[in-house]
Amino acid sequence: MSEFKKGKIIKVAGPVVDADGMTGAMMYEVVKVGREGLIGEIIRLDEDVATIQVYEETTGLMPGEQVERTGESLSVELAPGLMGQIYDGIQRPLELIKEKTGDFISRGVVVPAVDHDKKWHFDPTVEMGDSLNYGAIFGTVQETPVVTLKLMLPPGMSGKIEHIAPEGEYTIDEVICRLSTSNKTEELRMLQKWPVRIERPFVKKQEPVLPLITGQRILDTFFPMSKGGTAAIPGGFGTGKTVTQHELAKWSDADIIVYIGCGERGNEMTDVLTEFPKLIDPRTGEPLMNRTILIANTSNMPVAAREASIYTGITLAEYYRDMGYDIALLADSTSRWAEALREISGRLEEMPGEEGYPAYLASRLANFYERAGRVITVGEREGSISVVGAVSPPGGDLSEPVTQNTLRIVKVFWALDTDLADRRHFPAINWLRSYSLYTSQVKEWWDTNVGEGWLDMRNEAMALLQKESELQEIIQLVGPDALPPAEQVVLEAARIIREDFLQQNAFHDIDTYCPGKKQFEMLRIMLKHYRLIKDGVASGVPLEKIRALRSRTSLSRMATTPNDAYEEPFERLEKEMVQEMKGL
Ligand SMILES: Nc1ncnc2c1ncn2[C@@H]1O[C@H](COP(=O)(O)OP(=O)(O)OP(=O)(O)O)[C@@H](O)[C@H]1O
Ligand SMILES: [Mg+2]
Repeated sequence: MSEFKKGKIIKVAGPVVDADGMTGAMMYEVVKVGREGLIGEIIRLDEDVATIQVYEETTGLMPGEQVERTGESLSVELAPGLMGQIYDGIQRPLELIKEKTGDFISRGVVVPAVDHDKKWHFDPTVEMGDSLNYGAIFGTVQETPVVTLKLMLPPGMSGKIEHIAPEGEYTIDEVICRLSTSNKTEELRMLQKWPVRIERPFVKKQEPVLPLITGQRILDTFFPMSKGGTAAIPGGFGTGKTVTQHELAKWSDADIIVYIGCGERGNEMTDVLTEFPKLIDPRTGEPLMNRTILIANTSNMPVAAREASIYTGITLAEYYRDMGYDIALLADSTSRWAEALREISGRLEEMPGEEGYPAYLASRLANFYERAGRVITVGEREGSISVVGAVSPPGGDLSEPVTQNTLRIVKVFWALDTDLADRRHFPAINWLRSYSLYTSQVKEWWDTNVGEGWLDMRNEAMALLQKESELQEIIQLVGPDALPPAEQVVLEAARIIREDFLQQNAFHDIDTYCPGKKQFEMLRIMLKHYRLIKDGVASGVPLEKIRALRSRTSLSRMATTPNDAYEEPFERLEKEMVQEMKGL
């Protein structure tokens, strides 16, 4: 029984319910609505009337039914057992709900987010009498073969260890540590909670100087993402948002993946739900799900839960960040999330802004992306959350509000392009419109870890592509033959970069991932080729002869040369290239 006075429903409007008799309730308090106890959250308070967004289907809900307060904010459970889970927007495990209720999620089902009966092997890392500050680690649990969960003093708590449980098996609810703080003794368990709408604290943000290596050439070399950075992938229907997000999930050099499937069609989400559990993590040889949390809210699930899914996802990410991990958080698609905001705002009869979206769309988007970052955590570790949001502008029109507001916030813009997708140039990322504001910040990392001169090479290649696009305009007018040989050489070099470097097949065994060093070598050899043919043509060799050389076809095979044995073939190619050109 709840100790709070119950309220009563006075109005039901889709996912939004008004209840009176709610004096004393808090903003964002979780309530149980109606006979079935549907889960909802208070999003507006006006004297004793609370407006509640309900996370479950509200059909059949009637005025007069009761509303029960819980006294708690919408929170997630933080404990071992999160990895590998598939949750809905409010952290209910989809599998368990299904087991309980069948394919159609029925209402008011209470299922714990993590297993409270399972015993985990706890390893203490502190001793009695140790003084700890908040964020300090007092023990670890091997959550999966690849993730060691670190049990931390919750934010704000510090003191002296009075008791620490010996190594052994415990449930998440058993007390494993007692801490005497300045005024009382705190009991610590593996299980902690955190309200999803509040960012977890950290000490300070770090400069985004480490790249997030994705193994995708156009991303890493041309428009790099940083660890802790923010990126958006806007693109029309079928241009490759989901494939790109899946590539990032599989290949990014993050320790942990949080994937939020947000409001996409049921069948697209089913792909994620069936495909992800089968994926083998290329980095560990273990199932990828061992370091992945999926949050799934298909278009047929209640919109309010979709609104919450973003916060649930980022809070789970922050929990692992605080342990010192690098997280990649991938959201597909933030447009569907914005549509949920719009629908709820409409039900609240708020003053609509642009295209019916609420005026606070921009600030909500900013709040979400601002929770990204590479930080010094409480407890002095270094962790990061990199956020990549897909955006699905209706009709591919990037001037619409969600895209525009997102672009004001994020530092990387990967512009998908319908024309490229139609021509089956994949990834269909437009190299002239995309940008990354991290390029010069990650330069040093490339110089030190991969090879000197990375940025110069990248800029030289970019300049060739830009020149190509200018020349194409001229060709439209006068035809290709009118161009002088030096400019034909530019076209040839740019074409090689486009076709053999920028294109990358996500479904090819080898090409799906390209290591940073291999990217560097590929581009270096392509640019060397450019200089060779430039000199050749300048001294009178016809371009047709150069095009017919063996090394020209070898260039196009670099991408699919095995990632663990490309050095020797690349060396041979480079030598052959020089020799053949000399021969001419
Ligand atoms: N990198 C890639 N390599 C090979 N094929 C690709 C690549 N990217 C996209 N494609 C092709 O494009 C198709 C559509 O991609 P995807 O489903 O990711 O688009 P989307 O933008 O998510 O579409 P929607 O708007 O329907 O959600 C894929 O099925 C695939 O055939
Ligand atoms: Mg998609």
